[in-house]
Amino acid sequence: MPGFDASAYGRRIADVYDDVTADLPTELAVDRLNELAEGGRVLEFGIGTGRLALPLAARGVPVAGVEASAEMLEVLRAKPGGDRIPVTVGDFSTARADGAFSLVVLAFNTVFALPSQDAQVACFRNAAAHLRPGGRFVVEAWVPDLGAFHDRSAVRLLSLTEDRIMVEAARLFPADQTMRTTKISLASGEVRLLPANHRYAWPAELDLMARMAGMEREHRWSDWSGAAFTDDSPAHVSVYHL
Ligand SMILES: C[S@@+](CC[C@H](N)C(=O)[O-])C[C@H]1O[C@@H](n2cnc3c(N)ncnc32)[C@H](O)[C@@H]1O
Repeated sequence: MPGFDASAYGRRIADVYDDVTADLPTELAVDRLNELAEGGRVLEFGIGTGRLALPLAARGVPVAGVEASAEMLEVLRAKPGGDRIPVTVGDFSTARADGAFSLVVLAFNTVFALPSQDAQVACFRNAAAHLRPGGRFVVEAWVPDLGAFHDRSAVRLLSLTEDRIMVEAARLFPADQTMRTTKISLASGEVRLLPANHRYAWPAELDLMARMAGMEREHRWSDWSGAAFTDDSPAHVSVYHL
């Protein structure tokens, strides 16, 4: 992707990120991550504002992060306990955090924020390099749904309340498996544009990346509750182990 900047997404969204993600099933995800960590250390790639990391830390799980956006980090640091989480500032496809971890987490489609297959392969290798023997790498991502696009474009309603409407416009570039999206947030007296670019991949391609990094798939669920992954699942939570 030309002019790729890992910190661009956070720069535009940091101040509203927690509002935009308020309806995600965060508690369910934290329960599952706590279980997968089996009492060991957790490293979150793209830790953001600490949506997952802070509740995990509050349960006594030692958590660290990697993050490219100074703005997202500032929001994390301002929260109670946010200044006690060690964060390596950098690109999670290459940055190195200290020590070995039981679990590396890459949640909420963030693997697709990496702009190329090469960068995603590097990310899987970087995750494996942080794991203790037998450790796990968990990836949460959507399943590409090209049928939702007409003329390689799609517009969908994300949420609708009396105070705010959230719409997403997307354009597909199938030759290099990329998608440009901009969320449009409309509220009284305010329009916000929240762009995000994705290099998307089907679950099987992610499995191959895991194998190239020396990992095997242990689970694939359709969500954090552990529901079965089926032909109709729009997303997956995949767990790989070293
Ligand atoms: C969608 S948010 C997810 C935040 C958090 N993991 C969560 O689940 O709420 C993606 C985060 O990853 C960060 N990010 C995106 N690409 C990155 C990269 N290549 N290296 C480090 N951080 C990155 C963004 O700045 C943002 O904080």
